[in-house]
Amino acid sequence: MGKGYFISIEGSDGSGKSTQIKLMKEYFASKGFEVVESREPGGTRIGEKVRNIILDNENVEMSPVTEALLYAASRAQHVTEVIRPCLKQGKVIICDRYIDSSIAYQGVGRGLGIDVVSKINSVAIQGIMPDLTVFFDIDPEVALNRKIEDGKADRLELEKLEFHKKVYKGYKQIASTNSRIKIIDASRSVMEIHKDVVNIIDEFLLKRSNGQSK
Ligand code: ADP
Ligand code: TYD
Repeated sequence: MGKGYFISIEGSDGSGKSTQIKLMKEYFASKGFEVVESREPGGTRIGEKVRNIILDNENVEMSPVTEALLYAASRAQHVTEVIRPCLKQGKVIICDRYIDSSIAYQGVGRGLGIDVVSKINSVAIQGIMPDLTVFFDIDPEVALNRKIEDGKADRLELEKLEFHKKVYKGYKQIASTNSRIKIIDASRSVMEIHKDVVNIIDEFLLKRSNGQSK
């Protein structure tokens, strides 16, 4: 059995990640891959419990460090139970958010700092980083309004716009300095965005089949 691929999807709340992941999944499946979709926080029984604590609208007193550690705890369980086994079995795992979310939200948004959040996460991820990350780039205010109109806003999504702008700045910062992260203009139509996603996947698969790691 070959080594699988780990793809993480990142972006502001409401940037269209779930919508695009559905289409990505179909695309990989059409190419003959076995695809698993997952998400963070969550993705495991324990992780979903942690998710409920983190996103509970009543938990207003949660400290930023507690928040960062809880996301990392959910991630550690996810790596152990889902991501690593999928990779071993040669599957493609598409994950709605991973470590870059913690860097952007807790590191930059909450102001804990990128170094502190990276350190917390280095234990959680157990050496597993995504092979490819797609960042859906859209003005956080536009993205958030999509979500609020949907009536599905949770504790983090109800944060002040200022917080989401900081998170967005964090994303831009890490995306512009890391070749693993591909940036897509997510302000366009669903199918225009999907077309770009397909191009990125094709380029990624071609490089991998030629034996290149980047
Ligand atoms: P996320 O998973 O990033 O929070 P979703 O895929 O759930 O985002 O999309 C949030 C909302 O925006 C949903 O109501 C979805 O139907 C809508 N949406 C998704 N993609 C687009 C798009 N390209 N243009 C306009 N609305 C979109
Ligand atoms: P979710 O409902 O999955 O949001 P979305 O559909 O926008 O992805 O909620 C996840 C929330 O948790 C979202 O606001 C981003 C936040 N988050 C962090 O702050 N740090 C993290 O490490 C992760 C994985 C998510």
